[in-house]
Amino acid sequence: MEVVTDYRDVDIIPNLYGAFAEDRMSLVDVTWKQHLYHEKRRWSAAVFVSAVDIDTLSMADRIYLWNAGRAELTTKPGADRLARIADTECRRWQGIDDTLAAVMQSCGTWSRYWNEEEAFHETTFNALARRLGMEPRGNDTFIEFRKVFPDDNMLRTLFLLAISEITAMVNYVCCARLTKNAALAALFKQVAADEAQHMRYFVSFCKALVDSGRYRAKDALAIAHLFLRENGELHGSHRDRVEARGTHVNWWDHLDTEGIERPDDLDSKQKAIYSALKSVTGIDVASPEEVEEAWVESVGV
Ligand SMILES: [Fe+2]
Ligand SMILES: [Fe+2]
Repeated sequence: MEVVTDYRDVDIIPNLYGAFAEDRMSLVDVTWKQHLYHEKRRWSAAVFVSAVDIDTLSMADRIYLWNAGRAELTTKPGADRLARIADTECRRWQGIDDTLAAVMQSCGTWSRYWNEEEAFHETTFNALARRLGMEPRGNDTFIEFRKVFPDDNMLRTLFLLAISEITAMVNYVCCARLTKNAALAALFKQVAADEAQHMRYFVSFCKALVDSGRYRAKDALAIAHLFLRENGELHGSHRDRVEARGTHVNWWDHLDTEGIERPDDLDSKQKAIYSALKSVTGIDVASPEEVEEAWVESVGV
C-alpha cells in the first residue's frame, strides 16, 4: 500500500465500479482512501464555537443557527439507516454481482465517516444556539427529528441524499454570505464544504450503481423530478402545502425563517442537481421541464 506523506492527492474515487472491476482495488484499499479523505478534512467544533462572539450576532444569525441545529438532528438516523440498508444490499448482490456487492459494502463503510462529520454540524450549531440562550431543544423535538426515513430502492435513496446535501450546502453558503459575523461565516463555510464533499460521495455511489447495469437511470430522474417539479420538495417549507408525515421528518420542510431573509438560492440548487444527474446518468438536462421529459422517456410512458 502506498505511503501517504501529505493529503493533497487524496480524493473521492469518481469511478467506483471501475475501481473495483478494472483497477482491482479491494475493500481495504477503498476504505483506506475514505479514511484518509476523512482525516484530511477534520476540524475542531470546540475551536469554531469558541471563536464566535455571541453578543455580536444579529437576530437573523440566531435564527439561521437555530434552524441549522434542528435540521442536522435528522442526519444521524439517515446515516444509521444507510449503514443498515447498504449491508443488506451487499449481501443481496453477493454471488450475483460481486463488484456491486463491494460497492454497497464501501457505501455502508463510508456511512461511519458521514455520520461522524454530521455530528460536528449538529453539535456545533446546537451548542451555539444554547450559548445564545435560545429556546432549548426539548427532548421531544430531539427524538422526533431522530425518526428514521422509510426504506426505498437504493439508487433512489442515494440520489435523494445527494439532493439533501446540495440543499444543505447551498443554504449554508447563503448563511455565510448573509451574516456580518466573520467567525460565524467561517463556520457556515466549513460546514458547506463538508456538505459538498458528502454530495460528491453520494454522486459517486449513485454512478457506481448505474454503471453496474443493475440500477436504472429512471430512479435518479424520478427523485430529481420530485424535487424540481412545480411546488416540489426543493421549495421546502416555502411550499403552499407541506405534506404532513407521521413516519419521519424531512428537515427541509421545517425551516422557519419568518421575518428574516431566507438563506436560499434556488438557481444554484437546480444547477447542482442537473450536474449530479449528468455525472450519475450521463443525461444532459438544464431545466425542470427537461428533467420531467427525460424521466417520462426513461419510464416509457
Ligand atoms: Fe450537515
Ligand atoms: Fe452532509
